[in-house]
Parts: sequence; structure tokens; C-alpha cells
Amino acid sequence: MRTALTAITDELKRLKATGVKSVSVSDESIATLRRVIAARAPKTVNPVVAAVAAKASPEIPKSASAVVKPPVKAVTPAEPKLPAPPVVVLPSGDKAVRWAALKELVLNHPVCTANVRPGKKVVLGVGSLDAKIMFVGEAPGAEEEVQGEPFVGPAGQLLTKMIGGMGLKRSDIYIGNILNWRPQMPTPEGAEQIGNRAPTAEEMAFCMPFLRAQIEIVNPDVIVALGSTAAQGLLGADSFKTLGEIRGHWKLFAGKPVMVTYHPSYILRNGSNRSKRVVWEDLLQVMERTGMTISDKQRGYFLDK
Ligand code: URA
Repeated sequence: MRTALTAITDELKRLKATGVKSVSVSDESIATLRRVIAARAPKTVNPVVAAVAAKASPEIPKSASAVVKPPVKAVTPAEPKLPAPPVVVLPSGDKAVRWAALKELVLNHPVCTANVRPGKKVVLGVGSLDAKIMFVGEAPGAEEEVQGEPFVGPAGQLLTKMIGGMGLKRSDIYIGNILNWRPQMPTPEGAEQIGNRAPTAEEMAFCMPFLRAQIEIVNPDVIVALGSTAAQGLLGADSFKTLGEIRGHWKLFAGKPVMVTYHPSYILRNGSNRSKRVVWEDLLQVMERTGMTISDKQRGYFLDK
């Protein structure tokens, strides 16, 4: 059934692209469309197919071919699944008061809660509200949505080591994410999600006001963007082609210097000293920029083969 539907849809799109304004649909195709429409929820029906099926109404004699004109307007992208990004207004007060209000807002936001499975958590950033350095990652993963804290899984443990290498503790810095929920993937009913997907542009845009608010509250000296989703969220998807092109260079977001580097999960996949050194050199720049003392030992990390 799905194959027939796809074939009809593809053919209609192809014809439209070549300038065809009307098509003749066979009885067999009309019958297929009717069966598909009856079997599928109205929201998921391809608008092209719906338009054709609607035109192919029962009053058309069974033996006749229907001449239909798919309205151009019907061929629109799917409706956005998320509302417009929220406008975050923080109360007046000190950092703790403003952060607590933001936490209350994000953890209970109906869009955020609708995007986590029952028993799983919406995740806001954590750490020192006076941090000079704010790390920004992509989105919570399996462990993070259980604990409600960013970077607590394998990538998080590596990030914690990297922070340690800088001579800092997690409680000295602030860690946030572009997204406040784990991007959902279809799973069989009752099963746990295996694996992760990158957030969509729409999801990223929705959560950006929450990240901006965290940056406004913490007011760090420097932001470290971990990986390409973080770089896209902060700098714009069109501002670079590959991460290698911009990593190690200072950029700006909301008036803050941004150092882009590879995501810790990249190091977990490609744990060569060479790639560790690349990330470490980016972090050395962050240490220099924030006025930290750097020992000779620290300067030499990952230089050996
Ligand atoms: N990866 C991220 O980018 N963020 C997390 O919170 C965890 C893993």
C-alpha cells in the first residue's frame, strides 16, 4: 500500500515539476488513494494525495478517468510541529532568583514536557552562576534525561575530565545545552529509545531563548561550543561548512567570545592523542583568555604520540 502511495505521490510531484497542471488518475489509483486516506490519520496524509483523493470523489463514475488539478497551495511543507519560540522574561532579582525562575519555566514548559517521555526529565543547564566559562553542548542523551542534568553520561564523564585538566571542577563552570530535551525517536511501544538524533532546526530555535536566558544570567567571560550542533545554534547553521573550519577560532554570540571545539563524543569515537590535542589546544586558548595560570605540564598534554 505504502509503495503504491509513494509511487503515485512521486509521479504527481514529477509531473508538477515539469509544468503539468492537470492529470488523469486511473480508477485503480483512486481506489488505492481512498484506501490509504481511510487508513491514515488526516494530519499525516500527504497534501498532494489528499487533494487528488478529494477531487476523486464518489460521484465520479467508476469507469471514468478523473481529471484533477492539484491545487498548488496544497503542496506545502508539513505544518511546524512546535509553536514559535517562547519570549522569556526574567524577574528582577539576583542571579539565583532569576535562574530559579527560569528553571521553573523550562522544566514545566508544556512544549518541553510534551517532548519527554513519561518518567524522563527536561534538562536545564547546571553549575556556577558566577562561572567565567560556560560550556554548551547539543542535547540531553539517555542518562541526562533520567538524571535531569546535562553531560552526566559517557561524553559528560569525558567533559568532566577535560574540565579537570584545566584545573577546574564542574562546580566552577556552567554547562548548558542547545536543547532542553532528548530529541525523540520512534521506538516500539514501551521500549526505551536507543541512540540519539541531532535536534531539528525548529527544536533548536524553540530552545534558544532558554539558552540565551542562561547566558544572560551567568554572564560568562567565554562560551565553549562543543560540537557542530552547539556551533550551529550559537553561530548559525550557514556560518560554517565543517567544524574543522571554525574550531580553534574565536567567534561571537550575544557579545560573548565563543570558542568552538569538537564534542567530547567525537573524542570518545576517535580517541587518538592527535584529536585530543586539537581539543586541548582550543581549551588552552580558553584558559589564556580567561586569565588562568597554565603550567608547563598542562601546555604539554597530549603532545606525546
Ligand atoms: N551530549 C550533549 O551534547 N549534551 C549532554 O547533555 C549530553 C551529551
